[in-house]
Parts: sequence; C-alpha cells; structure tokens
Amino acid sequence: MTIDRVEAHDRALAVHWADGTTTTYPYLFLRDNDLEGFHPQTKERQFDLLSVPVDLGAASASIDGGSVTIHWNAGGQGRSVLSEAWLRAHRPGTRSSDPSDIEVKVWDAGYADSIPRTTAAALASNQDVFLTWLLDTKRSGLSIVSEIEDDEGAGVALGERIGFLRRTNFGLTFRVETIPDPNNLAYTSHALPLHTDLPNQEMPPGYQFLHCLRNGAEGGASVFADAYMIAEKVRRKDPEAFGLLTSIPIPYRFHDEQHDIRVHRPMIGLDERGRVFDVRYSAHLTDSFDMPAGIMGEYYAAYRLFMAETRSPENIVTFKMEPGQMVVFDNRRVLHGRTAFDPLTGHRLLKGFYVDRGEFDSRIRMLAR
Ligand code: OGA
Ligand code: ZN
Repeated sequence: MTIDRVEAHDRALAVHWADGTTTTYPYLFLRDNDLEGFHPQTKERQFDLLSVPVDLGAASASIDGGSVTIHWNAGGQGRSVLSEAWLRAHRPGTRSSDPSDIEVKVWDAGYADSIPRTTAAALASNQDVFLTWLLDTKRSGLSIVSEIEDDEGAGVALGERIGFLRRTNFGLTFRVETIPDPNNLAYTSHALPLHTDLPNQEMPPGYQFLHCLRNGAEGGASVFADAYMIAEKVRRKDPEAFGLLTSIPIPYRFHDEQHDIRVHRPMIGLDERGRVFDVRYSAHLTDSFDMPAGIMGEYYAAYRLFMAETRSPENIVTFKMEPGQMVVFDNRRVLHGRTAFDPLTGHRLLKGFYVDRGEFDSRIRMLAR
C-alpha cells in the first residue's frame, strides 16, 4: 500500500493511503522514531526525548520517493525522514508482527493422543522441524521428544539449542531421584500432586524439561493438566471465585538450609487483554495464607474450586515416560506431577532443567527469520 498524500496538522501527521484509509501519527512519536536517533550498529535509541518540546509541531510535510519528510518547528532539530514501509508497519494501535505471538490451544484429558511428539533425530535434521516443535510446544504448552541418547547431557544439549538455561536454587540442571536427605518432595518416592515449579520465585521458570533416563520402578507415571483450561473452567463456573484467584496475592515460600525464597502473588495472572497468562500452583510451596479473615473463607472456597479441577480425570493426562523420552512443558501454564513409585523395584532418574519463556520466544523469532 502506498501513500497518496500527507497533511501536517497541529500535533500530528495525517497519512492518506492509496486504499482510502487514513492514519494519524503524533509528531512526538515520529520524532522519537527518526532513524537518525538510533545507533547504526546496535539499533538502540540514543535520541533524548526531552530535547524536543512536548508540543512539537511541523512546518511542513511532503512525500519524497517512498518516504515522508517532515520539517520540524523551532525546537524540533531540523527534519525527520520516515520511510513508507516503517509508517505502514507502525500504524498506532496495531501491534508489530511477532512470529512467537501464536494462538494457544487449551486441552483436557482428550488430548492424550494428540500431544505433539518428535524425535531427537528429527530435531537434529533440520531447522524447520525444530521451529515447528517450538511452535507446537508453545501452542499447547506440552510436547514429548523421544529417542534421546542415554546420556545426562543429551537432553540438556537440546535445551541449549533453544537458549541459555535458567539457573535456580536447585542448580543449572537437577536430577530427580530419591536421595537420602531430600530438601524437596520431588527427591522422595512420594506421589507429587499436580503443581508448577518454583511459584515462590519472583518470576517462576518458563519451560521445564524432564529427560527420563531410568524408569524401572513400579509406579512413577507422569501426570499433566493444562492450567489455562482449568482456570477458564473456574472462570465460567464461578466468575467471582476467579476474580479472587486473579487479584488476591498469596504467599509462596521455599526454604532450606541455604535459602528462604518467598513472594506474594495472585495464583492466576492475566495479560492486558484479560487472558490467563500464568499460573502459580503448588500446594506444597504455598505458605500459610495471610489475607484478612473476612475474605479468607471465600478465598479458600475459590482455591478449592481450582484444586478440585486438578483432581478431575477429565482434565488430566497420564503416561509413564520411557528412558530416552523428554517432556517439555510451559511451567507457568501446565501443571505436572507424578504417581508414587516403589524405589525397591527399580531405578527412576530424570534430568531436569528450565529455559525461560523469553529465550524460547527469541529462538522462535530467529528461526522464523
Ligand atoms: C519435579 C517434579 C516430576 C517427576 O522435580 O519438580 O515434578 O516425575 N518431578 O518426578
Ligand atoms: Zn515439579
């Protein structure tokens, strides 16, 4: 689409496009995005917005071979040239396109046979397969990679192809197996009810990877549920309960000999469009509620509603991982857990690590280029 004509108004430029539509660009916005104000190499803004007046005006504006030239009034420091392509891509009110901004797909128990699956060999073969895997994993928040080498570093290497790992108080990577002196229920043979990891962190880790190396013990099946789906069910069944879960901060805490990591946050986080964005849910890391007694009863009722959905078979997918498989899931969305196992019947060992959402999305954008 090309520009037909431009008009310099008092505080804004009106661009009339060939298709008959008009876009209005505030002058400060155009001045602030003049390419000359950016470092040519790093593409970072160096322009000082306070160096021009808030009521910046234009003396004239003209079309000039695919670009618009604006001569600024006093204080505006000369002229700015904005390309037609830039103007088209930055119409106020439209988000710039982002290959990682994909529609999510919520799921329940019926999803068991549709979980995206791939193999380590397929991911090694080409970048398109790798990109498709990242997009599939992001869409549903869960995928399974099979036929990974029997080596603790092999799953980790796959994760490192996405981005750097998120270090936590459990290390850069962690081994999930029964240990003598556990600081975490995961390191016992007990069942782990559905949860998200590290809700006590200021920002809980994004994607979690659990590479199964041994699963010879009786029991120890993996359990997953989509907390986006569960949250929407709560919203539909009881909007007021949902309101409490999205607004009342509750305390989460992990503490051992070395750490005492705590935060107060609402259990369900919404984005600016009111969609569920992240969920913190871990009965074992939720500290004693400290909201006023007057709302505690209602809060407990709302919390139990969510909790009951995590127990409902219609929301849950269960399967036993085989050595060589790795589950990848969005830890700020998908709840995970396991059934109890009997450590006397065999060895169970998972290698775990995290890659945050930001690094994950960055890899999607780089591969989509
Ligand atoms: C964990 C965890 C699941 C499993 O380590 O946080 O949830 O299958 N482990 O052992
Ligand atoms: Zn966990």
